[in-house]
Amino acid sequence: MRTKHFVRGGLVGAWITAAVAIAWAPRGEHSAAALAAPRDTIRDSLLVSDSIYQGWKWWHVYCFRCHGEDAMRPILPNAPDLRWAVSPNGANFPRDSFFNTAWNGRPTKGMPAWNVLLDSAAIQEVYLYVKARSDGWLKPGRPHRLSDLQQKTKSP
Ligand code: HEC
Repeated sequence: MRTKHFVRGGLVGAWITAAVAIAWAPRGEHSAAALAAPRDTIRDSLLVSDSIYQGWKWWHVYCFRCHGEDAMRPILPNAPDLRWAVSPNGANFPRDSFFNTAWNGRPTKGMPAWNVLLDSAAIQEVYLYVKARSDGWLKPGRPHRLSDLQQKTKSP
């Protein structure tokens, strides 16, 4: 299926296209309920790829307790807001790459090494999640995947 293929590509634009496709698809059925669907479903800012979804999960198991829920408002005073750290304005970043810092930690500064609990793919997923939050298109809250939405439409 073409839409699915694009979505696997992980391009933001493709996500929006997919979201639009979903929002408009029910029109063909001439269902009054579908036509009355809220317009804001057209811009689904919580629709993410599988990788980002996994990253969101890792984040809220391991990282949020210091760096903050939804990757904002850090809880530990000296833990940086990582949205800033991965942004173009993160002036001193990378002091080291996101990956290396997450992998090796900075134990003397209170940042644990995650290589004992996470593999490199998981850290990459966390990065993609933080980057999506930093770029701003992914809103705070629990994201969902295209497959979650399809599940929802199927159930009564
Ligand atoms: C126990 C608290 C704690 C947890 C949990 C934690 N961090 Fe950190 N993290 C810190 C602190 C403190 C710093 C700042 C270290 C310093 O001053 O150099 C930091 C810094 C970082 C940096 C470097 C940012 C920069 O601008 O230099 C990255 C990247 C990072 N953390 C990623 C993660 C990831 C990913 C997770 C979850 C897998 C995580 N952290 C979990 C405390 C934590």
